[in-house]
Amino acid sequence: MAQINPSILSADFARLAEEAKAVDGADWLHVDVMDNHFVPNLTLGVPIVESLSRATDTPLDLHLMIEDPDRWAPQYVEAGAGSVTFHVEAAAAPVRLAREIRAQGARASMALKPGTPIEPYEDLLPELDMLLIMTVEPGFGGQAFLDIMLPKIRRTRELISKHDLELWLQVDGGVSESTIERCAEAGADVFVAGSAVYGAADPAAAVRSLRAKADT
Ligand code: DX5
Ligand code: ZN
Repeated sequence: MAQINPSILSADFARLAEEAKAVDGADWLHVDVMDNHFVPNLTLGVPIVESLSRATDTPLDLHLMIEDPDRWAPQYVEAGAGSVTFHVEAAAAPVRLAREIRAQGARASMALKPGTPIEPYEDLLPELDMLLIMTVEPGFGGQAFLDIMLPKIRRTRELISKHDLELWLQVDGGVSESTIERCAEAGADVFVAGSAVYGAADPAAAVRSLRAKADT
């Protein structure tokens, strides 16, 4: 079954605990960490993740859009993250970092910006629990889905099958009622949705409806 991870980037940051509860039934809560260096935007850091992990039973799916994830990722596991995604473009030693995250007991995941191909990283896939294919340029919610990423999703799914891996394939950016079916058809199984969930009148219903669409 498809997993739907609402992104709290589109939530009200003054009411994070309530906003987390508003998406009851979501598989994971997606938390976007931005440092104004790797991406031109700034969001939140370790202390807020610590508080949020105490405030919700939904596991946290951290998406680190930061420089030097080798140094920071382990701190987000300690802060309570169940899954930590680092960008390959920013990591100095992706294999070592993935092993460290796993050794701490969290799921290790690696993200690719739209311009980063999957092929050079085929041999790294067994080190990961999830691969994130960005379907917008990272940095902001509410951007239009990049259809040109669909072939990359398809090729990644083929690599996962070829190596017989239990790897989850996540998409993030512009995922909505009108784009989720295309992503699922291409082979994604974990869907991040920010504006499509928190922009809806009933966020929990939006999660259910996105999941139903992805599963058709
Ligand atoms: C963008 C973030 C996304 C963002 C998605 O850089 O990584 O997680 O919240 O927002 P939507 O779903 O509105 O495109
Ligand atoms: Zn994200």
